[in-house]
Amino acid sequence: MQIWIGCDHAGFERKQEVMELLQQKGFSVEDCGCDGSRTDYPEIAKKVGEAVAANPGDRGILICGTGIGMSIAANKIRGVRAALCADAFSTKYTRLHNDANIMCMGARTLGSGLALELVEIFLDTPFEGGRHETRVHMITELEQQ
Ligand code: RB5
Repeated sequence: MQIWIGCDHAGFERKQEVMELLQQKGFSVEDCGCDGSRTDYPEIAKKVGEAVAANPGDRGILICGTGIGMSIAANKIRGVRAALCADAFSTKYTRLHNDANIMCMGARTLGSGLALELVEIFLDTPFEGGRHETRVHMITELEQQ
């Protein structure tokens, strides 16, 4: 599983911390920017979203000030199921039930310790499938309309 990661200027420091964790855990990580300079978040959401949509099984992590702009933008890309993650329960269940393939986090709303814990939950939790598979398929059908 390859991890595609991106941020805007508000999320840059948190992205560096998350990348360090991912590297320690032995993940293959592709940094889609930014480098800390002022950046429009939809540009980065597009890069990460297109990469994840093109590579089923891969995951994405997007960080901006609130995580909201990144999630709105990433969810415009066909094949992306981006979830705003701010607590452990939702992060676990968006993997179990929604098969979320991108997690979005707010650097201005979450502390470093919680953010890193949520990353571990997101990457360690499998999709439950079964009845949830049907619902995820229904989301995919909405994209075709
Ligand atoms: C940048 O100031 C801020 O708007 C952005 O990081 C994000 O929070 C948008 O949703």
